[in-house]
Amino acid sequence: MRQLNLFELPPIADKWQIENFSAGDFSRQSARKELERRLIGTLVVSNDISRQSVSYQLSKKDNLHRWLKYREGFSADLVERLLKEFNIKAGDTILDPFVGSGTTSIVAKMQGVNSIGFDILPISGIAIKAKESVFDYDLQEMEQLISDIEELTVPENYTKLTNHITITDGAYPESTEREIAFFTEWNAGSRHSRIAKNLVTLSILNSLERVSYTSKDGQFLRWNYDKIPPALKLLLLEELRSVYDDICAIQKSPRPADSTLQFIAGSALYELPKLQSEILDGVITSPPYCNRYDYTRTYALELAYLGVTDERIRCLRQELLSCTVENKPKIDYIKGYYKQDDFDRIMTIVQTNDALAEVRNSLSDRNKNGDINNRGILRMVDSYFTELSFIYAELFRLCKSGAKVAFVNDNVRYGGEVIPVDFISTELAEQIGFRSVKVYSLKQQKGNSSQQMAKFGRIALRKSITVWEKP
Ligand SMILES: C[S@@+](CC[C@H](N)C(=O)[O-])C[C@H]1O[C@@H](n2cnc3c(N)ncnc32)[C@H](O)[C@@H]1O
Repeated sequence: MRQLNLFELPPIADKWQIENFSAGDFSRQSARKELERRLIGTLVVSNDISRQSVSYQLSKKDNLHRWLKYREGFSADLVERLLKEFNIKAGDTILDPFVGSGTTSIVAKMQGVNSIGFDILPISGIAIKAKESVFDYDLQEMEQLISDIEELTVPENYTKLTNHITITDGAYPESTEREIAFFTEWNAGSRHSRIAKNLVTLSILNSLERVSYTSKDGQFLRWNYDKIPPALKLLLLEELRSVYDDICAIQKSPRPADSTLQFIAGSALYELPKLQSEILDGVITSPPYCNRYDYTRTYALELAYLGVTDERIRCLRQELLSCTVENKPKIDYIKGYYKQDDFDRIMTIVQTNDALAEVRNSLSDRNKNGDINNRGILRMVDSYFTELSFIYAELFRLCKSGAKVAFVNDNVRYGGEVIPVDFISTELAEQIGFRSVKVYSLKQQKGNSSQQMAKFGRIALRKSITVWEKP
């Protein structure tokens, strides 16, 4: 009998198995059913991985990982479990191609494990720098920094305002616009160390939503002019004091063994091909989900604050792994990074995968039937799997034999058609050369949008962690 580890319950897949992929039997679903039948045996409904562990919830309580308010992150607890399960030790090297707040990289750092990571958002770099320096802060300097800020007031005649892009215009009260600009200018010119200044930047970033008339709401910033935002100085001090407490607590524990943490601000699609082959002992990551979530809109206040212009935001949006209806195909750019043979091989896999072809056709039929509310969804789904396949192929090249890869992702549904992202990804990874180890699925599944429910009924969607191994 197969040995189960502590992480698992015996496979009780029936509630998690999808019976009907196409509402009302509208489309052909035999390929998705066949895939489901083939891979359902690898599904493990996990006892220990909760919705909290694949979301930011657990990190809120964690005294290092909460430093960047980043709702799309997974928890340090999940990364610790996977590192253990993958038998990753100090001195090994792991990768996260979609770093976000840097959970994988920072957990690795705390265990003396080397890491490499990429993200297109500049906030990732600031968060990682702040967290990886946790043992380097001088407590006396931090106390001085906090007391310096306590003494500051914005002069009456100060007129500078913070940076904006079109969609953030008017996001703050006028006095807050000046406050943000003033504290930023003060920080740039202060005599404090670089890492202390970076913490001030991080603390300002963490305060922006609360000092604005907006709140992050799914794919957009929701505006609320009834809100009376607090002063920035109050929140900035609150943030810095809380980080200071965390630093004091963490510095009491032994410093981890030295390791390297390499973060590159750029697209994984174009950065992975620059790395040498067979350097990785493992990969733990969570890409953007195929759910229309636009990081450049959710983090518009933070990006504008960091001086990102309207034009640059549009470029960043296009650099996102295709997960919004606005993404245009970038296959011509990707092509430039591959030898023709490799490019053709990966494209053949993507174009001939049965389940994926069925998804494409069924979405196209649904669109003709008026069931898809935005045509861009068809292109998004197609590009999403195409781009991920290039990522999977690069991970295969970069992994050493025996290295394991974990991807946290959600299944999705459009126009009544279920897209089993976990199993399709696993099959693409197999075609690339990986061996499928298991698919952890959360006990709590995901509901559907109210429009989908009203029109097509309810189908629970798996939230999964796919695990593959390079033979
Ligand atoms: C689900 S989040 C990752 C969260 C991360 N696991 C954490 O714990 O914070 C996905 C991240 O992928 C990034 N991303 C999107 N497209 C990318 C690309 N082409 N290359 C690198 N990162 C990208 C997004 O900016 C976002 O930060």
